[in-house]
Formats: sequence, C-alpha cells, structure tokens
Amino acid sequence: MKTFLVYLLISYPLSMAMAQFEPNYDERQVPEFKIPDPLTTFDGKKITATSEWENTRRPELYQFFEEQVYGKVPGKLDSLSFNMVETSDDALNGKAQRKQVEVSLFKNGKSLDFNILLYLPKSRKPAPIFLGYNFYGNHSITDDPNVIVSKAWAMDSEEFGISGHTLTEASRGVRVHRWALEKIIDGGFGLATIYYGEVDPDKNDFSDGLHSLFYMESQEIPKKDEWGSIAAWAFGMSRALDYLETDPDIDASHVVSFGHSRLGKAALWAGASDTRFAGVISNDSGCGGAALSKRQVGETVGRINTSFPHWFCDNFTEYNENEEALPVDQHELLALIAPRPLYVASAEDDQWADPRGEFLSAHYATSVYDLYGTKGISDTKMPEVNSPVQNTLAYHIRTGKHDVTEYDWEQYIDWAKRFVAVKP
Ligand code: GCU
Repeated sequence: MKTFLVYLLISYPLSMAMAQFEPNYDERQVPEFKIPDPLTTFDGKKITATSEWENTRRPELYQFFEEQVYGKVPGKLDSLSFNMVETSDDALNGKAQRKQVEVSLFKNGKSLDFNILLYLPKSRKPAPIFLGYNFYGNHSITDDPNVIVSKAWAMDSEEFGISGHTLTEASRGVRVHRWALEKIIDGGFGLATIYYGEVDPDKNDFSDGLHSLFYMESQEIPKKDEWGSIAAWAFGMSRALDYLETDPDIDASHVVSFGHSRLGKAALWAGASDTRFAGVISNDSGCGGAALSKRQVGETVGRINTSFPHWFCDNFTEYNENEEALPVDQHELLALIAPRPLYVASAEDDQWADPRGEFLSAHYATSVYDLYGTKGISDTKMPEVNSPVQNTLAYHIRTGKHDVTEYDWEQYIDWAKRFVAVKP
C-alpha cells in the first residue's frame, strides 16, 4: 500500500506534466473558442474602411504581435554595406546569372556578415525574386561547385555529414530537392537565398548572432518584449531586401518572402513587419506561423516555447497552456500582410503543423482581403488535397510530408505570375 502511494505521488504529477504536452490530433478534442475578429478593435470598434484598418486596427494588431509574440527590434543599425564576392554570367548551363553578395551589418562597434546567393534569369531583367532562407548553407541548395560554403555555426546532422557544427563539401547539394531552381528561372523569377545560421544561429544562446549587436552595456539577453530568433531572421530578410533594392538586375518592388517551417514563420513576420515585400509564401509554417494557436492541435504555444525557448520573445510564454487568453490569433498575423498576395500551404502528413488550422487561418484572414476588394479563401471547407485555391490569398494542401516539393514550387510560380509579378 505504502509503495503504491509513493508510486502515485511520483507518477501522477509526472503523467500530468506529460499529458500537458501530449499533442492532440482529434478534431473532437479541439477546445471551443471564439475566433478574434480582425475587423473589430481591442476596444470593440468595428472597422469598415481600409483607412481605419491602416490607421487604427492594423497598428494595434502589429504592436501586439511585436511586443507579445515575436519581440521588438531594439533600435536601428548604425550602417550596413554590400560587397559583391563572386559573380558569373554562365550559371545553370548559361540560363542564369549567379551572384554571391556579402551583407555586413554594423552596430555599437560590432558587426555581423551574411551572404546572399542569387540566381537571376537572363531572360528577364529586372527580375522579380523569391527570397528565402535555407537550413544547411547556400551550397546545400544546389550542386553548383562555385557556391561558397558558410563558416557559420550549423546544426549537426548525420544524414548530411555535418559534425562539429561545421559545414563542409559533404553537404553540397543535399537540399536540391527543396528548391526548384530551374523552374524558378524558367518561370522568369530569380532566387535569393541565405543560410539562416549566418543571421542568428538556431540555438538557445543569445550571446551570438544578430541580437548581440544591439545589447546595451552589460545586457546579455533580449528584454521580455525584445526579439527572439524568428524576428532576427525576419530582420535579416529585410536587410537582404535593402541589398536587392540596389541591384539594377532585380525588380525589388516584386520580392516575395518565402519560407518553410520555422523559416516560414520568419517569412510571415518579415512580410508583416516590412511592407516592401510584395508577397509572402508560408510553406508548412505551423504553430507560431500560419496555424491557429487556439485550436491547440499538434504543436502548441507551451510546447514550442519549451522546445525552442529562443524563437519568440519572453512575453509569449504568458500563453503557454493558456491560449484562450490570447486576444489575437495567427489569422491576424496573416491579415497584417493584406492586401498583398499571400500563399499558405500545408502538407497532408504534416499534422504537427495542423493543416486545418493553417487553412482556417487563411479563411479568417479573408475579411481583411475582402475589405480591400481582393479575393481570399471564402470557403469554410478545406479543398481536396492537390487542389489549390489560388486568389490574392491562396491555399493548398498537398499529399506527402513536412517538406518543400517540386509540386509546391509549381504552384508558387504559377500563382506569383498571376498575382505578384504579372508580365507586361
Ligand atoms: C519543429 C518545430 C516546428 C518547426 C519545425 C521546422 O518541428 O516544432 O515548429 O516548424 O521544427 O522548422 O522544421
């Protein structure tokens, strides 16, 4: 009896803690909640005109996401500079131009460099661009032997031959399948990509990366309402856009921020925080990205803040196991991008990212697209797999797992031709 009691005393709290983190995939277990209305202000005023959205509602929503979710950028850079490191007119069998540009950021006597790898179609100048981060270095997205291997910290991966947190030739081309480079070029678009680890290494350590440049004296970590890694990656995308604006081969008024998964979260925040981005693509971005948090399906706020304590600002932990207290949800992040083109995509086997929550989020952001007279996802019923719904706000769910596929890119290119960079 005594041992049983001891067992209960130990195992009960443990199993409760585990239960908290047991992901739910059952629609019947989704808690009831009221979806916050993008077109009603926090103090209850109805928004009926785009001017009210732009002057009142959008700023208050933006401020909430900035201070309570992703975190504020604490100040401005002192300066930045661009340095063309390498270029060739004979890339991809002569179809494309390749450029490798080093961007240097300066602040408080410190600096940080990151490199943009660019492929531009020779057939279209200036070219509209897809700009997105990669997970394992610029050299991982192509077999092109001329792409420089990054010296920045990398996540070890047995599969890709990465150890000692160092990238080598072993990982050249390992992510070719995620970047339909030829299709992008043939479609008349350029691709700009950056290794995300150069902007902020993806680890719970705030001593390195972009954050460290902005610290006040003796500051070691961001304040509670200051940026986590997602906001730092988004900031990096904006600085890349600063470069793109200077390059005459690029049509910087038609740059689409693109990202997969955690980098899809960053692409969304970049699009929300920098309206120079002409469009945004969220590929399987899930929790803290396109998926509604209040559904608590798959990954939850508590879970993501525990596994990745460096991604969001500290204030966001207020909502761990407490999603009902959120006065916003992620459809309002999507709405911050309106009326610019936005593509939300899911994968059928990526239940962790809650495809239905990603779809509903696009649906509930639609009222703001409507306000502008642009089309979104008005249907409440999810489309069949591999049956994209493409409007200014687009959505698809494809078969397969958490990944970026040729199929995804085919849809993005088609859609971007119709809604982002229409050929004259
Ligand atoms: C984890 C994490 C997700 C994230 C994903 C990724 O699965 O829980 O939130 O999107 O990694 O970036 O691949």
